[in-house]
Amino acid sequence: MRVLALLDGTLADPDAPQIRVDDLGLMRGDGVFETVLVVDGKPRELGPHLDRLARSAALLDLPEPDRAAFERTVSLVVDNWTGGREIALKLIYTRGVEGGDGTATGFTLGMDISAKVRAQRADGLAAITLDRGIEPGLAERAPWLLLGAKSLSYAVNMAALREAERRGAAEVVFTTSSGSVLEGPTSTLVLARDRDLVTPPSTLGILPGTTQAALFRSATREGWTVKVAPIAVDELHAADGVFLVSSVRKITRVHTLDGKPLPDSADLHARLVELYEAEY
Ligand SMILES: Cc1ncc(COP(=O)(O)O)c(C=O)c1O
Repeated sequence: MRVLALLDGTLADPDAPQIRVDDLGLMRGDGVFETVLVVDGKPRELGPHLDRLARSAALLDLPEPDRAAFERTVSLVVDNWTGGREIALKLIYTRGVEGGDGTATGFTLGMDISAKVRAQRADGLAAITLDRGIEPGLAERAPWLLLGAKSLSYAVNMAALREAERRGAAEVVFTTSSGSVLEGPTSTLVLARDRDLVTPPSTLGILPGTTQAALFRSATREGWTVKVAPIAVDELHAADGVFLVSSVRKITRVHTLDGKPLPDSADLHARLVELYEAEY
């Protein structure tokens, strides 16, 4: 099932053409997006997602997204959804049409969560590490690379996932060229050691995750130690658990990394899922 709401506050047919062929989002991937999870009619972390949409737009020198208009599209999709308990909402915001008056294109599309993602939430997945070719300091030194912006240019991220599939895995952990852990193509990495949770710093040029933030908030309340610190690839193999977390995949366990089984983290996974769900 799919429901589409346009930024002007109208519903539209998701099966009909809505985007002009000269939209710069389409022609150059020149735009930004967010993916928001809705459960039982309630969007999760909507405020942080809209904050991040605005931050990404600013990094791309796009006009500031109309927050109230995006909130209205979210309500429209949620109110008109007649499908299952969960919705993946894609909020899209592009530079508009080539040679136009600068009016941005914006819409929110509600979709089902794929069976593949739901299976991975339950069973975990195998991941491989892949070099992302970036080094600490690059994000500040070269802001035009848009590291840490959630831009529509995700072709590299999708290519990395296809590379993982070619190598018999389902997911990717990006690393710097010197072997420091970054993030997944569409997820944040969280490592667990005893009652410590660690995630790499966004200053490395990665996206600050709303799911990781929610998990850390809850874990802190329950007396866990949470840290934002660099992680070397070797540390992943020695950890009690490695997780890829995102709005749509929630908390997903990595059971195999680069072909090597990681320690069984099924119980730890259940505990982290509890912590995450306690936020809602
Ligand atoms: C590159 C990247 N990192 C991390 C995340 C996780 O972010 P969130 O937890 O806010 O969904 C995403 C989400 O799609 C992403 O694309």
